[in-house]
Amino acid sequence: MKIAVFAGDGIGQEVTREAVRVLEAVDLPGLTLFEGDVGGVAYHRHGHPLPAETLDIARASDAVLFGAVGDPTCDNLERHLRPEQAVLGLRAELGLFSNLRPATVFAGLEDMSGLKPELARSIDMLIVRELNGDVYFGDKGMRETPEGEREGWDMMSYSESEVRRIAHSGFQAARKRGSKLCSVDKANVLETSQLWRDVVIEVAAEYPDVTLSHMYVDNAAMQMVKDPGQFDVVLTGNLFGDILSDLASMCVGSIGLLASASLGERTTEFGTFGLYEPIHGSAPDIAGQGIANPMAMILSAAMMLRHSFGNEAQAVRIENAVSAALADGVRGGDLGGDLGTSAIGDAVLARL
Ligand code: NAD
Ligand code: IPM
Ligand code: MN
Repeated sequence: MKIAVFAGDGIGQEVTREAVRVLEAVDLPGLTLFEGDVGGVAYHRHGHPLPAETLDIARASDAVLFGAVGDPTCDNLERHLRPEQAVLGLRAELGLFSNLRPATVFAGLEDMSGLKPELARSIDMLIVRELNGDVYFGDKGMRETPEGEREGWDMMSYSESEVRRIAHSGFQAARKRGSKLCSVDKANVLETSQLWRDVVIEVAAEYPDVTLSHMYVDNAAMQMVKDPGQFDVVLTGNLFGDILSDLASMCVGSIGLLASASLGERTTEFGTFGLYEPIHGSAPDIAGQGIANPMAMILSAAMMLRHSFGNEAQAVRIENAVSAALADGVRGGDLGGDLGTSAIGDAVLARL
């Protein structure tokens, strides 16, 4: 079982250390870890945020565990050299188009949600975010208008096949959960979204057992706060999914709790090849202080065992250890407590 470990920048390094400790503590015969540089760290060492050797390590592995990238000292570099290009590049190069971002409230955390506890208790959703298209990967540039103004532009597009494959991911995920799928778009304004909606309706014919609904993204943001319990699977595009998942994290209580899996079509002898990362970033405001919550990263490692290694038992074991720690009052600063990153890691390890 070959796992590429790319810790990246800022708290990425700190939270990855704890996830690796957890992986080493569970019983995984044949586990081998291969480290690689990504992000600002890689730019400073190799002149590129996603060096060829890092990509090679990812390709030779069965799964990638990814911390976070982002370094304020790189914010003025040409875009292709910025740390964020590492995660975008891995998603594109490895064909990871389906990003699963579960959001569920842990017992005992209802009071930490930005929502009223009775609303928080009802949250059990899975955001299925398209990850290889949309305005993220279209042509973009800066130009001067005829009037001599600067103008930035980004091309937003989706092809039929891109929508079809993520729609299948969404419907298949819904089948394994509550059989409800809400497709979120902006079809009242965007052609991209009109195509999205048309194709989702076509694909729905193959899943008569799943109840499909549609919602505009502005309303979806409002509904997620008003009545989050109405959502089972939320299927959406790259940009809307990015924004809605950070919103969902505060309904759950902290961005330090939300894990993700990014999957494509490639399979290995163990399962589906995937990249696993928390939804948060490198958090420069708290990096280096040892106070980041590593739970999102630890839960991402659990998702890896489930999807890439077919090891449901160990995945559940890790998830239960995190839930038990939270139920016992284990809290970092993000949840109003004072435990540091490694103390939270210790608390999870103790409950494995
Ligand atoms: P962020 O997610 O890094 O941080 C947002 C806020 O949440 C900050 O106040 C931070 O301290 C807090 N936070 C995040 N994770 C936390 C954790 N585990 N425990 C406690 N608090 C936590 O988002 P940002 O500040 O907008 O971005 C910082 C950098 O990270 C940027 O360069 C951005 O591009 C990058 N980023 C990378 C990824 C990724 O690697 N996949 C994801 C998001 C942002
Ligand atoms: C995420 C991040 C990334 C995204 C950035 C860092 C490119 O915000 O993984 O949610 O927008 O996808
Ligand atoms: Mn994001």
